[in-house]
Amino acid sequence: MIQKVKPSDSLQGTLSPPPDKSISQRAAIFSLLHEGTSVIKNYSSAQDPQSSLECVESLGAEVIRGKDSISIKGTGRSGIKAPEDDLDCGNSGTAMRLLAGVIAGSGKQVRMCGDASLTSRTMTRIIEPLEKMGAYILARNSAYAPLMITREEKLKPMDFELPIPSAQLKSCILLAGLFGETPTRVIETIPSRDHTERLLQLKVEEEKKGKKIISASLNDEIPNQSYTVPGDFSAAAFWLVAGCIIPNSEIKLEATGLNPTRNALLGILQEMGANITIENERMEGAEPVGDVVVRSSDLRAINIPKSIIPNCIDELPILAVAMSFAEGISVISGAEELRHKETDRIMAISEMLKAAGVSFEEKEDGVEIHGNPEFSFDSATFKSFHDHRIAMASAVLSLKGKSESEILDAECAAVSYPGFWEDLLALYP
Ligand code: S3P
Repeated sequence: MIQKVKPSDSLQGTLSPPPDKSISQRAAIFSLLHEGTSVIKNYSSAQDPQSSLECVESLGAEVIRGKDSISIKGTGRSGIKAPEDDLDCGNSGTAMRLLAGVIAGSGKQVRMCGDASLTSRTMTRIIEPLEKMGAYILARNSAYAPLMITREEKLKPMDFELPIPSAQLKSCILLAGLFGETPTRVIETIPSRDHTERLLQLKVEEEKKGKKIISASLNDEIPNQSYTVPGDFSAAAFWLVAGCIIPNSEIKLEATGLNPTRNALLGILQEMGANITIENERMEGAEPVGDVVVRSSDLRAINIPKSIIPNCIDELPILAVAMSFAEGISVISGAEELRHKETDRIMAISEMLKAAGVSFEEKEDGVEIHGNPEFSFDSATFKSFHDHRIAMASAVLSLKGKSESEILDAECAAVSYPGFWEDLLALYP
């Protein structure tokens, strides 16, 4: 689908960002592990969370899809079933990496597959530690899905220091650890999103300088996952930037997740001079939420330190758009992980900026952007590279053109944000 986006000199309105993708997927997977029924309100209808839901169903959970909530009767850890067909994770790295931990832990033999993007993303990061725990994983070219996972030996719990700050890797190992009699301990030195620890109420020991040791074993009871999924901060991020860079704008984003391991973009934009306020901050289950209000702002350039990259990893494409309109030179570095996302996002960000004529330099581990608050362009054709976040970042950039731009393969926004194009239209005055 080719999506046309008209420029705008104002954006106004109130909207609720779609349900959080990471939390929805965890809610489904943890409900499978809980022996009993969980009722999840505001479960995401986006493609990735729906893939996870279908996967847990294939692994034996009973899912009832209601109008306002879904209920999932889990199998518990001992009741997981091996599906007859491949377990299809679609486009979702979270589904594949988290469920690989569950499958390795369960000892069942399961073949996992995914779409063209997912089967081109390396799985080595989970294969090596899961094999140390006793799993046997047959992967295409030893690194890529389809993955055939099985285990004959007893699960070997382990102490695992995360070699990269990845919440998917952390969660994968903790989920496998939940099947071991003695605890598996994951040692994290750079914080990544902590939804797994929060929602499973795992034991977390905090040491000096942000070091955390998270433990999981068969002794940990899996709590019921009955809660309301908060709005997705990563989806709200597109409107936060749009509200800043478009004049005469005021956008309110209701019930948005504000987990501090996810919301680094908020502090970054505020440091750049953004006019963003939070109202009505509260807890929604284990997660903080609030209503976020953004108004048009004059932005200044910023350098992003490597240590906070994991806390804004999914927001970097839209941050690059904000940087294009910020006075001075902004730098994103230490973000080589972006090359391993749904597409090579450093390449995709560069192509997006190039299409609009932004002045920038691509680096191996990030990008340097020469921002200009007065920057505009006539119109552009943006390639999404079938990556939802690139499609949506390009749409926000299109608002700053002089005439209508177009985004190719724009339907991929539905991977995380099915209502994105309708919400965009609703914000035009
Ligand atoms: C996710 C973790 C991040 C993020 C992805 C979702 C999760 O990936 O980019 O969109 O739900 O755990 P990594 O853990 O690979 O950094």
